[in-house]
Amino acid sequence: MLGCGESEEPRPVTQQPPQQDPLGAEIAQMRKQKGKTLTIGMSQCNLGEPWRVQMNADIKSAAEKHPNIKMIFKDAQNDTIKQRAHVEELVSAGVDLIIISPKEAQPLTEPVGKAMDAGIPVIVLDRAILGEKYTCFIGADNKKIGRHAGKWVVNRLSGKGKIVELKGLMTSTPGQDRNSGFREGIAGSEIQVIFEADMKWLEPDARKEMESALARFEDIDLVYAHNDPGAHGAYLAAKGAGREKDIIFIGIDGLPHEGQAYVKQGILEASFEYPTGGAEAIETALKILKGEKVPKKITLKSRVFKADNLDKGGEWLE
Ligand code: FRU
Repeated sequence: MLGCGESEEPRPVTQQPPQQDPLGAEIAQMRKQKGKTLTIGMSQCNLGEPWRVQMNADIKSAAEKHPNIKMIFKDAQNDTIKQRAHVEELVSAGVDLIIISPKEAQPLTEPVGKAMDAGIPVIVLDRAILGEKYTCFIGADNKKIGRHAGKWVVNRLSGKGKIVELKGLMTSTPGQDRNSGFREGIAGSEIQVIFEADMKWLEPDARKEMESALARFEDIDLVYAHNDPGAHGAYLAAKGAGREKDIIFIGIDGLPHEGQAYVKQGILEASFEYPTGGAEAIETALKILKGEKVPKKITLKSRVFKADNLDKGGEWLE
């Protein structure tokens, strides 16, 4: 099996046409002439989940391949106000480029816009902001992942069943898209969502919400959680109630040491990969800083991991 963040070949991406950015090119030219070290600020919304630790590790190892890059990492500890302040600090520090993985869309839109006004290019990673005032967005297609999860559930339950949906933070775009995509995927079937709750991406919250679901409903066929920590929290709640064997659990993220390991242990039946985009962010940052044009949006592809395809490295979602 491949190690964290490694892959045999470059991850396939679909790209929108490059945007013209004359100002970016001019700034890059000025920087080239100065020949200085390039400082990249990374504003991470939280390092509580293994997936975000992996994202930072992917960024760090990609950046270390370039001796002229200096990274500054900020962790907002899941606090939106703190993350806004971090972006402002990076702007005041005069970094050459900012990468941000925002906690929530709306509140981080303004500070990103101000960084752009100050001539600092911004790469938005994984969770989106509102509008178009940023240099490049990199992330997987959450709606598509949700739709695939929905179709997988319809197939697994032969079109009929009672399920629980544990949603990610609904003020963040992946939560919204994993929900709407899933609902599209189950449309027209007799799958009923009998309980849904926002567990804010957090395992302890998912566990608590699942305890409520278990107390209210005697029959639950499946739990769809928007991330693997959420699915694991739900599993632990069901285990506590002695009902884990009656329920199927699926999640999203598919890290080798988290979602894939849960699939291997039989805790989850499926985990849908959500790539961190860390390496792609550094690759794109370098292009921007060299004055090259980059697409406005880079969409990363995802795989599904199930017990029968783990050894083959999962299956790409079409
Ligand atoms: C980590 C996380 C991941 C999820 C992503 C969505 O904070 O919740 O589990 O896939 O954020 O942005």
